[in-house]
Amino acid sequence: MADKRSDLKKVIMDTKTLPTLPNVIHKLNSLSDNDKSSVQEMAKIVSSDQVLSARILRLANSPSYGFYRVSTISNAMILLGVNVVKSLALSSSIFAIMEKDSVGLWEHSLAVGVAANLIARKLSLPECEEIATAGLLHDIGKVIISLKCPEAEKDIVKLASERHLYTMEAERETIDTDHAEVGGWLSKSWFLPDKLSEPIAFHHDVATSVNHRIKTAVVHMADILICASGFGSSGDRFVPPIQKIAWDTLKLNEQLLAELVEEIEDKLVEVQNFSLEMMSD
Ligand SMILES: [Fe+2]
Ligand SMILES: [Fe+2]
Repeated sequence: MADKRSDLKKVIMDTKTLPTLPNVIHKLNSLSDNDKSSVQEMAKIVSSDQVLSARILRLANSPSYGFYRVSTISNAMILLGVNVVKSLALSSSIFAIMEKDSVGLWEHSLAVGVAANLIARKLSLPECEEIATAGLLHDIGKVIISLKCPEAEKDIVKLASERHLYTMEAERETIDTDHAEVGGWLSKSWFLPDKLSEPIAFHHDVATSVNHRIKTAVVHMADILICASGFGSSGDRFVPPIQKIAWDTLKLNEQLLAELVEEIEDKLVEVQNFSLEMMSD
């Protein structure tokens, strides 16, 4: 069994066929670590990517940002804010990797990103943007499994439906690993920092996260609240339970949860519009 798993790891992680994050993301990330980087510098990097530039201009000119007329990338970045531009860059490239036939999973991922951001802000946590990014990427392992092992993926779906299992359980039985672990492997090959790779790798097992348990707990909660909302599709037909350790780590209570559920519901309308916008290309 151990051999099967390590063989599979080789297949899945074969870098020749593994999707790569576009250079523009790496460049934007390296700039943001340096406080002195100006909007002009970022605008220069973004301008080198035509598709991304077009999306940013379209978003900046959309009615939700008022009726400004914006014709340059640097003005668009001032209007939208650097973080919006960064998450747009990341989500466009993740969307490109996900392909158009996994719209349900794309919508689920986008909504978990948004919900994670909302929870982090509500709890006044530091690094809300990173938490949102981890939420956006949390199920990326599912994309890799379906890309690299399409036959196994069919077996996983069949097994989960026949025996009423969670996708995780069916994955373990079929390929001896699961999408969270695969997502962790991928994060390493993309050189993502631990604060992103831990929530991705442990979003179904918060207790295993040691260094970034709070971020992991937020992504776990966001995942479950979005499953329960019925928005998008994670592939699971049942809503998984909230792990007690996540609840305790975030010091949640019934009142806070009720407020969060309501705020997330309101936000999902915007997420739906954004998702339609991305798909219209
Ligand atoms: Fe998951
Ligand atoms: Fe998920």
